[in-house]
Amino acid sequence: MNLRSGRLKGQMKGEVADFTSSLKFDRRIFQADVRCNQAHTTMLIEQEIIPRDIGEKILKALDELEKEGIGALKLDSAVEDIHMAVENYVTSKIGPEAGFMHTAKSRNDQVATDLRIALKEEIEEIEKELLIFIQIVIQMARDHLNTLTVGYTHLQHAQPTTFAHHLLSYAQALKRDYGRLHDAYQRMDLCPLGSAALTTTSFPINRDRTAELLGFRGPMENSIDGVSSRDFIAETVFALTLLGTTLSKISEELIIWSTYEFRMVELADEFSSTSSIMPQKKNPDVAEIVRGKTAVLNGELVTILTIIKSLPQSYNRDLQEVTPHLWKATDTLHSALKITREMLASAEFKGVRGEELARANFSAATELADLMVREGGLPFRTAHQIVGRTVSSALEKGLKAEDIDAQFLDEISQEITGQPLKLDEDIVKRALDPVEIVKSRQVPGGPAPSMVKEAISNLEKFINENK
Ligand code: ARG
Repeated sequence: MNLRSGRLKGQMKGEVADFTSSLKFDRRIFQADVRCNQAHTTMLIEQEIIPRDIGEKILKALDELEKEGIGALKLDSAVEDIHMAVENYVTSKIGPEAGFMHTAKSRNDQVATDLRIALKEEIEEIEKELLIFIQIVIQMARDHLNTLTVGYTHLQHAQPTTFAHHLLSYAQALKRDYGRLHDAYQRMDLCPLGSAALTTTSFPINRDRTAELLGFRGPMENSIDGVSSRDFIAETVFALTLLGTTLSKISEELIIWSTYEFRMVELADEFSSTSSIMPQKKNPDVAEIVRGKTAVLNGELVTILTIIKSLPQSYNRDLQEVTPHLWKATDTLHSALKITREMLASAEFKGVRGEELARANFSAATELADLMVREGGLPFRTAHQIVGRTVSSALEKGLKAEDIDAQFLDEISQEITGQPLKLDEDIVKRALDPVEIVKSRQVPGGPAPSMVKEAISNLEKFINENK
């Protein structure tokens, strides 16, 4: 039965039909749409809204379709969307009685329901992948509890830390990304079905029942909202965009850290390319592609927000244009997530180089100032000034951090405060030692191996609770 034959004369021209059809990206909601029809028909039978024998014929046809898959559908753009294609299939099996399936249902609540079902499944998948990612990062951190490196601010040497500590900063970002996705999932987990076109129906439908059959926590509470809202999509894509940002930042660091200048990381050959002209090259192309591809997410988010912002409440066909951007976002994220995870897992973090950098370039300076506060009773600002002057004087004289001793500090202190510090030589040496510096940061969140172990066990708890 042709949907248009009642109200309209004639068909859309081919190119207009192509332009307006959602069939191409409706493939993603095919299974959800079948399930939606099954749940709705089951409820219609139970509520005695449609005759049982007809309802059962419809269900039988839907079961066959479920088994046969989307290939059984006739999909040309004369068919507006997947909902009509499914209905046409049932009609081809049982005749015009198939039309009972659409009692008390609109494509408006159907598409909103399908999208929520399909997106919930996507999120469940991504959440699983994310937990594996965090587990891998934890394992890497465990392997590098004592592997020194330098931490940066402004991309300048700042303070000594360990690779483990740095890796756990990734884990925490990923954990928050997980939380944001999960929040979006929770809000999405309500069923619009039964909203019908926008004001429900006078048939005595049971919305709790269809929500239950489709695995939702319950029905949505306002039917206009049910067919209007796509904030669940915007919110999910925002969460994915931030997750993409995390992946992009990790990739960025792998790119920088694997340069000759840094030499802190060696990427696996499987995640590197070479040059067609420069035979010596080992390029971090995979990381660069992750960095580039995740930009797609930012674009999709803005597109989606822009479509939604100007729409009056209830269903508007513009909403259809949100869908392809959603799937583009989930697909991009999905591949970037897996690739970044494998790339990071196969990268080698260079302990010798990390230690070399941790010892270089006065990254112990903060600890030296702290020592003057602790042992010399100076206000931190004064200590800061003495150490700053010590560093500039050492640089002028071509000295390194390890050449600084108590006497050197006394000379500078004399200059600034008029007093020597008389610090114990051993204590000064210890303050300059990155191993000691890292060990002394026994503060929750800090790099001391004991603290990192505690952070790991908290993360493991999180993983076990969410598995
Ligand atoms: N294909 C439409 C979409 O994706 C769903 C159906 C609503 N169509 C309509 N003409 N009311 O949003």
